[in-house]
Formats: sequence, structure tokens, C-alpha cells
Amino acid sequence: MQNNIFSGLFVGQNLLSLKEVDSTNNFLKDLLSNSKPVPEGTVIMAETQFAGRGQQNNKWHAEPGKNLTFSILLKPTFLAATDQFDLTRAVSLGVYDTLCPILGSELKIKWPNDIYYGDKKLGGMLIENILQGSQIKNAIIGIGLNINQDIFPDEAGNATSVKQILHKYYDLRQILAEICNNIEAYYLNLKAGKINDVRNVYLSRLYWFNEQKRFRANGEVFDGVITGVKDNGLLVVKQNDKESTYNLKEIEFLNNNKL
Ligand code: BTN
Repeated sequence: MQNNIFSGLFVGQNLLSLKEVDSTNNFLKDLLSNSKPVPEGTVIMAETQFAGRGQQNNKWHAEPGKNLTFSILLKPTFLAATDQFDLTRAVSLGVYDTLCPILGSELKIKWPNDIYYGDKKLGGMLIENILQGSQIKNAIIGIGLNINQDIFPDEAGNATSVKQILHKYYDLRQILAEICNNIEAYYLNLKAGKINDVRNVYLSRLYWFNEQKRFRANGEVFDGVITGVKDNGLLVVKQNDKESTYNLKEIEFLNNNKL
């Protein structure tokens, strides 16, 4: 079958579709540790993951066959390890640009790389970089997106899906192809040195950017405003005219119902 919906140069040109796997990120990592070289842009997608992994050691659950669970291999040797957050920005924007024409302005990127519709989570990413010295040798970009799932268990918290929002079924492969094409475009921008453009667009898509909101950090609940994201990915929040920076483990976003 011709693979022409993947119109990019390399992302998605080598696509392996699995019925079941523990985690597509693990599968790709194992593939890399075998002797044969794996081409950049290789995508592993799975209908079911029985040990899907999320951020901060959480599990990633997705109803089999209804959602996108996949991993992309990139080799951003042109990026210094200290700039690895630029990859997070590029990938988040690739996903954002794919869903925005369908979902509109309620779509946002919740720092660092969750995809949100309103106050609900549509998907997230687990990016695992393999460093060689001060460079990124391989980046395993794991993406989970809720597309056609109708119902979520209570443990899924504030999860939602495209189907829950639009009451329409979407073709998983079509969305996957568009994500691959869009991620490739942002990745090539990074490669061409347009890092500031990528940083600015990322900020403009950010959930709660420049809005007075409630957070918890260091055991304290406070109202503050997200004013930026440092080059290295730390979140900048201003509280009473003083800016502080946080990593993922250090700050929690508090919605009204979460005090
Ligand atoms: C998050 O916690 O928001 C990140 C979720 C990442 C899930 C994806 S699904 C495909 C890939 N394989 C995994 O085991 N995790 C990522």
C-alpha cells in the first residue's frame, strides 16, 4: 500500500504498527539497542499498550484501538543537551497544529507538554533523550492522544477526547500522519536555527499564559501569573512582582475544584 498521507521527508516514512506492546517507547529503545541502525523518523504505533508510561512515573491508560499511542525516533544531534526543551516545544507545537483546525482556540499546550482543551487533558508526551556527552544522540518521542474514546474511568481525572468534544469519529492514521508532518516541520525549523521563532510560538499557545491563576509550590497555595518559560524549560511564575522558576515536580496548577 502506498504510504502517501505521510507527506514529510522522513517522519513516519518507516512506520511499524503493532497490535500489542508493553510501551511503544520501550519497544523503540529496545530496537535501538539491537545492532541494526534505526532510521530517523521511525514511528512505532500500537493498538494496545499494556504498560504505557506517562510523566512522573505515572501509568498511561488508553482504551485499545480508540486512541493514538505512538513513539517517534529523532536524532537531534544538532541540539545541545542544555537546549533539549526546544524539542519538547517543537513536538508539542506539531501536535497542537494538527488538532487546532479541528478543535479551535480552546486548544492549548499546558506546560511543559500536555495538550489541553479548556481545562481537560487530551493527551501528553513522554520524551526520553539519550545523551552522548553534551549532545542528544537519540530522542524517543512518546505521544498519547485521546481521539475516539467515549468514556473515561474516574482514575483518568480530567481526561477528554476529540470524540467527547466533537461527537465525531476521527481516522487515527490520518491524524498520525498530520502530526508526523507537522512535527517534522517544526523540527526542521529548529535544525535551521529558527529557535526563537519556535520559542515564541510555543509561548503564544500556552495554557494560563499571562493570566492570574492559582498554583501550589513548596507546600504553599498562591495566585500568580505565568510570564514565561526559560530556555531550559523552567516555568516562570510571577507572584507579587517577584518571578520564580519551577521544574515539573515543583509546581502544581490548581483548578477551582482542586484546592
Ligand atoms: C503524560 O503523562 O502525559 C505522558 C503520556 C505519554 C504516553 C505515551 S503513549 C505512547 C508512548 N509510550 C508510552 O509508554 N508512553 C508514551
